[in-house]
Amino acid sequence: MSLAAVRRAEAALLIPTYDRLPVLFRRGRGVYLYDDQGRAYLDFLTGIGVNALGHGHPAILRALKKQAGQLLHVSNLFYHDHQAALARKLAKISGLDRVFFTNSGTEAIEGALKLARAYARLNNANGRKPKWRILALDNSFHGRTFGALAATGQAKYRAPFMPLMPGVRFVKFNDVRDLERQFDASVCAILLEPIQGEGGIQPLSAQFLQRARSLARKHDALLIADEIQCGLGRTGHWFASEALGVHPDVITVAKPLAAGLPLGAILATERAARAFHPGMHGTTFGGGPLACAVALAFLETLERERLLSNVRRTGRYFRGRLEELKKRYDFIRTVRGAGLMLAMELTFPGKEIVKQALAQGVVLNCTHNTVLRFLPPYIVQPRHVDKVIAVLDSIFRSEAQAERRPRAKPRGALEVSLDVSPRSASKP
Ligand SMILES: Cc1ncc(COP(=O)(O)O)c(C=O)c1O
Repeated sequence: MSLAAVRRAEAALLIPTYDRLPVLFRRGRGVYLYDDQGRAYLDFLTGIGVNALGHGHPAILRALKKQAGQLLHVSNLFYHDHQAALARKLAKISGLDRVFFTNSGTEAIEGALKLARAYARLNNANGRKPKWRILALDNSFHGRTFGALAATGQAKYRAPFMPLMPGVRFVKFNDVRDLERQFDASVCAILLEPIQGEGGIQPLSAQFLQRARSLARKHDALLIADEIQCGLGRTGHWFASEALGVHPDVITVAKPLAAGLPLGAILATERAARAFHPGMHGTTFGGGPLACAVALAFLETLERERLLSNVRRTGRYFRGRLEELKKRYDFIRTVRGAGLMLAMELTFPGKEIVKQALAQGVVLNCTHNTVLRFLPPYIVQPRHVDKVIAVLDSIFRSEAQAERRPRAKPRGALEVSLDVSPRSASKP
């Protein structure tokens, strides 16, 4: 089918939850995606942080083929070869003890929230005061299901679906005093992203995370690090919380875990994990043999090819090049992030920049309206970065030449300056 035919069919048949960009991808190889016309695109989004080894990595294909020929699915009522091996590996890299496998990020969050409530019930059995409150952060994103949504600190996602799970309170981002004010004995868990992803690549301060750690300990609440986007090597460390010197009680992971297949996990300390016993939680698909075999191949490949150091090295190079652009264009407000989880905040909406980049063969994304988000694969090299920088530079140059862009404005004044002249007039 052609792109036009696919678009027509989807418009008629799909529940309209996505505003897709007009490209039909047919295959991928390494850092590149190819569309139905055979045109190559540098993939600096990787399915929003999923294809961390790029496309068609031989180790992933080998694991896929081998396992697909043996066994695709078996119920969690039985054993298979790969869950324990993968759990052992995840425990080793996280320093945590036990694992529950899920199909997605939001499902890992749901399970972690249930674990926190069960943990509080178990350990607060004689407590006179209820202990069921969950703290989450303003501007966070934890997923689309009801529990994860209830803990997502952005009203636009929650509002259409109220009422949600009760008991969540939001703490101001990086505000230690607000954290201390809200963290009391009624709290059973604090859920946070060490680097907020969808919220615009916003790093949590070490001070905030460490204070959350000590308050959780004091009140026997669980510190849950949502590392679904920032974990499993994305920052050049196995986990972003580890880089900030903090050991959570629970870590949730998903996106890159099975290199493109759906798989997530809850990693927990022995003490936290003991709150679940058989029958309290489960899933049909989570932790199936195919996804687990591929996830093992993914983690082994990261080590064998020393990709965490490539993430740090190429991430530093990429960041430096983004900073160069910032010096040249005053509508670039900030460059931030860690490793290969980087962002460039503009003084105007980034959607049109994303479209222009796509037209020039670069896949990236805009989040939080004004933030260009870059999540390239861990195999990316400086030469790929240079191409992306050249494309951004040419787009920004025509933006600047057209003099349509307001000069950088302080936060809060932005809303009024967003209404720039019509895009149609902007084509060079
Ligand atoms: C930090 C974080 N948590 C949770 C989720 C939800 O994951 P999923 O889309 O796999 O349900 C996402 C997805 O973007 C995420 O970035």
